[in-house]
Amino acid sequence: MSLGAGVPRILLIAGSARAGALSVRLRDASRREVQAAGAEDSVLDLRSLALPVYDGDLEARDGVPEGALTLRNAFGRADGLLFVTPEYNAFPTPLALNAFDWLSRVQASGDSLAGMAVVANKPAAILSTSPGAFGGMRALALMRQYLSGAFQMLVLPQQLAVGKANEAFDDAGALKDQRARQTLADIVRRLVAMAARR
Ligand SMILES: Cc1cc2nc3c(=O)[nH]c(=O)nc-3n(C[C@H](O)[C@H](O)[C@H](O)COP(=O)(O)O)c2cc1C
Repeated sequence: MSLGAGVPRILLIAGSARAGALSVRLRDASRREVQAAGAEDSVLDLRSLALPVYDGDLEARDGVPEGALTLRNAFGRADGLLFVTPEYNAFPTPLALNAFDWLSRVQASGDSLAGMAVVANKPAAILSTSPGAFGGMRALALMRQYLSGAFQMLVLPQQLAVGKANEAFDDAGALKDQRARQTLADIVRRLVAMAARR
């Protein structure tokens, strides 16, 4: 696929960091689609940010942690986000929400934008995984609200919830179901096209 002058850069994040995470498997399958669509991919592991649970006293004492600046800088380099959320009690994971909450506390400094400004108006594709039948759809709806409402991201209307995700991938890490695979490719193509227009 030809995207013209600038190659769009897509940041891929999963809402879980545990070994063998289903959301990481879908993130990695998405990563291959991003590459196939001609975009540049980068993956950010939320655990590597080592963010403490948000605490206003801690922020007042120490400022925002380095990991929040790393997240801000990763978004600064990206033209679009692909986010895969697991579902914990019908909600996105604390790992993800905590990271975005810290991001929202990063102020502008020098040439670097504030956390809120660095994501605003950037396109985002949201996907979910669960071993259950509904694929984490409830968390997906809340993630849509969170990213579009609070963070002003342009969340694509198309989304994908992969149910029975523990059985959904083949040995090469691709989605076994052809319709799901096509939906994923379509979502990624739309995301890359939107990111290319920025
Ligand atoms: C605290 C907790 C709450 C959970 N709640 C839900 C839920 O509401 N819906 C669901 O489909 N799965 C739920 N699960 C199961 C997760 O979908 C499953 O553990 C999944 O593999 C976690 O995502 P990951 O594989 O990306 O780490 C829950 C798991 C945990 C640990």
